[in-house]
Amino acid sequence: SSEGRLIVISNRVSAPKGSTSGAQGGLAVALAAALRENGGIWFGWSGEVTEQYTGQIDFQRNQGVTTAVVDLEEQDVEEYYEGYANRTLWPLFHYRIDLAEYERDFAGGYQRTNERFAKTVRPLIEPDDLIWIQDYHMFPLGAELRKLGCQNRIGFFLHIPWPPRRLLATLPGAKALVEAMFDYDLLGFHTQEWLESFCDFAIHEMGATIEGDVARVGDRCVRLLADPIGIDAKEFAQASAGVQARLSYRRMRDSADGRDMIVGVDRLDYSKGLEERFSGYERFLIEHPEERKEVFLLQIAPPSRVSVETYRRIRNSLEGLAGRINGEYADVDWVPIRYVNQGYSRDVLAGIYRAAKIGLVTPLRDGMNLVAKEYVAAQNPEDPGVLILSRFAGAAEQMKDALLINPYSAEEISDAIQQALRMPKEERIARWQALMDGVQKEDVTWWATRFLDSLRQARPRIEEPA
Ligand code: G6P
Repeated sequence: SSEGRLIVISNRVSAPKGSTSGAQGGLAVALAAALRENGGIWFGWSGEVTEQYTGQIDFQRNQGVTTAVVDLEEQDVEEYYEGYANRTLWPLFHYRIDLAEYERDFAGGYQRTNERFAKTVRPLIEPDDLIWIQDYHMFPLGAELRKLGCQNRIGFFLHIPWPPRRLLATLPGAKALVEAMFDYDLLGFHTQEWLESFCDFAIHEMGATIEGDVARVGDRCVRLLADPIGIDAKEFAQASAGVQARLSYRRMRDSADGRDMIVGVDRLDYSKGLEERFSGYERFLIEHPEERKEVFLLQIAPPSRVSVETYRRIRNSLEGLAGRINGEYADVDWVPIRYVNQGYSRDVLAGIYRAAKIGLVTPLRDGMNLVAKEYVAAQNPEDPGVLILSRFAGAAEQMKDALLINPYSAEEISDAIQQALRMPKEERIARWQALMDGVQKEDVTWWATRFLDSLRQARPRIEEPA
């Protein structure tokens, strides 16, 4: 059609249907939904390693989406994915410069792999295709495509926070990384806060000026959009009503044995504030001994990025903490924390969320956090649970009717748990209804449509031929 196709590019491709953001990370789950709506090609890494990079694309078609994936070399995986993406950018962009590793090899491998992606995907692109690149693995990809003569409209979306400029300034090559972002037509962020942090860096470190929603450096400019991602609310509601979810709801209610369940579901990542969450919960047990056998915390935390040392460390220390708290407070017929390292399907999780009196979502930093939205979407309208949400999750900008807390404060977590357990039903319903309206209105389709409409309006680039 004259509209052109949509080409989505991201490191991780294709969340299996029926997976949730708690298990997979929100991005792949959301994109699968967006692509089902828009049609097109989804290009990225297969997740597989090969002897030598060939750029050979494996095409597959499922549920209206064509995926096109390539294998990477061992060295690419080490330097680009584990290295620059997950040992350098991820901690830095989540405000953890104490964990960020700055290595030339990582930066070099990141650049090389992005060049490889660009060369490989270039032949798939037709002149009127819209290109939408996702997340921190691929900052330079747009610039690389421009070098190959690509004049299509290219948008970029960041799914993690944008760090304060003083932190970003510690990254060698930060300016070049941001410079390259001016080759996009549109940059999307989940919140106004991340967008403002981007502008702050551009203004102070690069001499940019901001005019309306456009950032300009010299004769180069890029449009900016705050566009919070949502869940596929309709599909999630259907899943919650399905047989699987109902079975899992039953199973949880039975095993809870009349106690109130608090639930957390997160990839096992140091940004999720899991240790602080356990400490806050422990504080609650200390301050409210009468509640001890009346509640329990179910923490589901599937391991993530296990080849990276910092992830092994957080896993070890959480195990220690859960073990210590359980050892200290458990009784023969009660355990305070059920700590589970497996992932579950969306249907099973929907039932678990619904059975939980409290959804406890306490990341120290999070680009958005879709678990908060899934928890809300899974509730029983007649008797909904209470969402406790970190102020430092992107989702907090929209979800003002949650109990918003500072995840670094064990006392605030403890107080919020007590408040949630005590909350009268009318207040629970009123808060939930307001949250649910937002989750339904600002869903994944709303998110993708806003971005793509804005990208279509971006003026076409007139560039000198390559
Ligand atoms: C976050 C990132 C995604 C990533 C996901 C899972 O949500 O924003 O880009 O895909 O985590 O992490 P992984 O490294 O397993 O892809």
